[in-house]
Amino acid sequence: MRLDKYLCECTAFSRREAGDCIRRGKVKVDGEVCRDPARKVEETVVRVELGEEVLSYQCFHYMVMNKPGGLITASEGRGEATVMTLLPSPVPKHLVPVGRLDKDTEGLLLFTDDGEMNHRLLSPARHVEKVYLVTPQHALSEEDLLRLREGVEIGDEKPTLPALAEMTAQGDLKLTIREGRFHQVKRMLEAVDNQVLHLKRIAFGPLKLDPALSPGQVRECTAEEVERLRHACHAAK
Ligand code: URA
Repeated sequence: MRLDKYLCECTAFSRREAGDCIRRGKVKVDGEVCRDPARKVEETVVRVELGEEVLSYQCFHYMVMNKPGGLITASEGRGEATVMTLLPSPVPKHLVPVGRLDKDTEGLLLFTDDGEMNHRLLSPARHVEKVYLVTPQHALSEEDLLRLREGVEIGDEKPTLPALAEMTAQGDLKLTIREGRFHQVKRMLEAVDNQVLHLKRIAFGPLKLDPALSPGQVRECTAEEVERLRHACHAAK
């Protein structure tokens, strides 16, 4: 693989940033400064240093699913069908869902075996955005929307963080939250005396639910999606 590509895979650099960094002499290959972004390296054996840091290359998997209702988000179901049953075989050994959607929730679910990325995307300190389309039991008033935007008490130690809340032309609620508390959206709706009839996640961090994926379908993330994920989880807290 080219050295600039190797750098992109191991860091949050774009291809252009990686090229600049290499040309400026910041990168050593097997102990020697290399200024050629096109230099071919064997990723599993080469030693690449970026300044003081020794980079490590691992080949991870990233997949997105349009989760259908009726499956639980877990690696093992103990009798219940899980989202893992929809993954194409062979399933990479350590591939797990990033976070959880309730059994009846549909929509975007990311899977990876990149433990560091998984941890970073779920870290409460990072405030990765999740966008949900909610069909509420009854229409929300302007006051309900204001309360959701400001943060509501849902029975935890702290109220929810400020959220984005707006009604769509179809009468659904589009809710953007930056936390991932247990049953958070359902509890937020309860806090404004409402109920969730249907819940679908349409975005997770930099990823949007792919309209070409029908419920139950899965695909590998594109290189661009992986790069956006890397940026999101290397972004300042
Ligand atoms: N909030 C919920 O209540 N359920 C989900 O599945 C996701 C967010």
